[in-house]
Amino acid sequence: MNRIACSITFAATLLAGPWAVAQFPGMPQPKHYPWSDLSLSPDQRADLVIKEMTLDEKISLLHGQGAHFFTPPVPNGGGDGTPAIPRLGIPAIQMADSSYGVTRGAAAGRYATALPNNLAAASSWDPDMAFQYGALIGRELRDLGYNMSQGGGVNLTREPRGGRTFEYQGEDPLLAGTMAGNVVRGVQSEHVIGDLKHFALNDQESGRNSLNANIDKRAMRETDLRAFEIALQISDAGVIMCAYNRVNSEFACENSFLLTDVLKRDFHFKGFVLSDWGGTHSTVKASHAGLDMEQPHNIFFGEPLKKAVESGEVSQDELNEHVHRVLRTMFAYGLFDSPVKDQVPDVEGGYRIAQEFAEKSIVLLKNQHSVLPLSTNVHSIAVIGGHADVAVPTGGGSGQVDPPGGSPVPPPPPHDFFSAGIRPAWMPSSPLSSLKAKAPAAKISFTSGEDLVSAAAAAKSADVAIVFAYQWEAEAIDLQTLDLSPDQNKLIEAVAAANPKTIVVLETGSPATMPWIDKVAGVVEAWYPGIRGAEALANILTGAVNPTGKLAITFPRSDADLPHPELIQPPAGSLPDFSHLVADDSNIFNVLFQPLPAFQVNYTEGLKVGYKWYDAERKPVLFPFGFGLSYTTFAYSGLSLTPGETASVSFTVKNTGQRKGTEIAEVYASLPETAGEPPKRLVGWSRVELAPGESKEVSLPVSRDRLTIYEEASDSWKLIPGKYVIRVGGSSEDLPLQATISF
Ligand code: BGC
Repeated sequence: MNRIACSITFAATLLAGPWAVAQFPGMPQPKHYPWSDLSLSPDQRADLVIKEMTLDEKISLLHGQGAHFFTPPVPNGGGDGTPAIPRLGIPAIQMADSSYGVTRGAAAGRYATALPNNLAAASSWDPDMAFQYGALIGRELRDLGYNMSQGGGVNLTREPRGGRTFEYQGEDPLLAGTMAGNVVRGVQSEHVIGDLKHFALNDQESGRNSLNANIDKRAMRETDLRAFEIALQISDAGVIMCAYNRVNSEFACENSFLLTDVLKRDFHFKGFVLSDWGGTHSTVKASHAGLDMEQPHNIFFGEPLKKAVESGEVSQDELNEHVHRVLRTMFAYGLFDSPVKDQVPDVEGGYRIAQEFAEKSIVLLKNQHSVLPLSTNVHSIAVIGGHADVAVPTGGGSGQVDPPGGSPVPPPPPHDFFSAGIRPAWMPSSPLSSLKAKAPAAKISFTSGEDLVSAAAAAKSADVAIVFAYQWEAEAIDLQTLDLSPDQNKLIEAVAAANPKTIVVLETGSPATMPWIDKVAGVVEAWYPGIRGAEALANILTGAVNPTGKLAITFPRSDADLPHPELIQPPAGSLPDFSHLVADDSNIFNVLFQPLPAFQVNYTEGLKVGYKWYDAERKPVLFPFGFGLSYTTFAYSGLSLTPGETASVSFTVKNTGQRKGTEIAEVYASLPETAGEPPKRLVGWSRVELAPGESKEVSLPVSRDRLTIYEEASDSWKLIPGKYVIRVGGSSEDLPLQATISF
């Protein structure tokens, strides 16, 4: 396990303190300035401010304060940012991590809603929900005194064992970009700056501070960068956080191809580029390349940047451009005009929304002989394992939302600096209690699963056995395998041998392999379902809610089927020695982020990310991308295509079962062979709500943008002339309707 990649974030986790309050007072604006004129555009307002600023004031907007990790705990939870400039009425930027909720409030006794993790939310395929997800985060950020979110993770899952797979939005650029874009749009609708991260190719955590991702331009543009591009088009995100790693030999935060050519020129990004924490490695080079702000310290963009401006190495125009981007973003998202006001978050409202989202995120993977929903004929249920008596797991790292009241499952004792900062935490939402509340007539027992004999005995004596299995995942620590722990696999085997009506509930942040799949009757993927996860799960298991979620990521049969069967690790001896590091060591940044020799990660699978890999390599999978069952069934018919600048794809979906349900109808395109693409790509989808027996015609626009390929020679997107096969159905491997359209 590689832990050196761990960010300094986790020092903050340990040492949250009052610094933010001291440094970032809310800024009332009693005075009227020329830039207070609301009829001016954000750009005009920013330019007026810049005219009045001293060099020191400008520099102060381009870096963090650096030292707060080492000060005593703060109520704001260790947020970073830039200080206010009272003379000019410029408010502080107060940032907080907020991938699936606002993080790290426990030290200050603050509550924030833990939503289902991001990959879970992507399984809803519901852009409106994504918007509401972001809006809730935006509201709670404001309530807690922040005006900028660090969330919006949209790195494509090239490596499903990546420790942040749970924090990203899956393996397809259209789905991931659409979901992340809507989350950020939601955040920004609350007058909070939103960000997208980590730009780009931060697709694994092992050695993330030193790895060099090698990938060709076409593959990069059509996959990882495409997800960012789509998310940016949807959200107009105010901030892009550049990644720790190198891309084609240059650190992402001083990579002029990524930051200037692609992001600022081709994507027309108007906001500011912020370094990941400790991801800045130079002053002049990074500034020229397009980095606008260093966080969380001032090592390169403090005094050294000032000196570079004074010596002319960085021009006034370049400096002003950085400052302009920061200020125009603050104006555009309301930091001047709608200052935040601390208040108590709407806890009950948060619970309700978290539950609703979890219900849309849970994916039913197997349901043999309709073992689910649990019928009223089920008189006894054995709940086994996974701490299901008390809690559901969460994903860890900088995105960690603290469980209100503390983790019901105590973390293992820390053994070093990193394990003290990144610790498993569980949300107090008990599947056992929720199930008892939903099925009061049934006798429901709980067995921890530590002892196989008693677990099997409990399963044997019940009508149905439900085994809870989990895989903890966290930033900075990649999974070594998609296999569950051997103990959990043995437990499932033992329970399934004792009771054929065994249902496995998975609580994972990544796909899991299932050597026992043929022996169990049901499988439900619940992910990290958040503060109301258990209640949502009980509704799904008992049928009060019909599942609608579909996988945003392929579940392969084994690690051996992945593009890189072995996780790529930094070579031994290539990382700095951190064994003597302690949390309050002021040398911490220098140790963690010292310039390291690059180790190479060759993304040779190129365009073939996720399902495109398995398709192209003809590898059978356990559960395909886009797959998910319902308690009803759907039939597809009548595909017709209308050509045009934006083609229209129409078809009919019918609910052929006995229950109301929602089908996510998916549309894929196979490009002409001369395009040199993987066999198919997602080009659209629709969530269709249907009463039993009801049919609806669905019409989806498919713009040419969805069908183009990136041509490296001309540095542009091209529609390849020829025949395009449009395929429609309920998963990437179940596409009963097909028709051809020519361009
Ligand atoms: C993570 C970022 C996070 C930052 C601040 C870094 O280690 O990669 O995602 O926003 O820490 O906590």
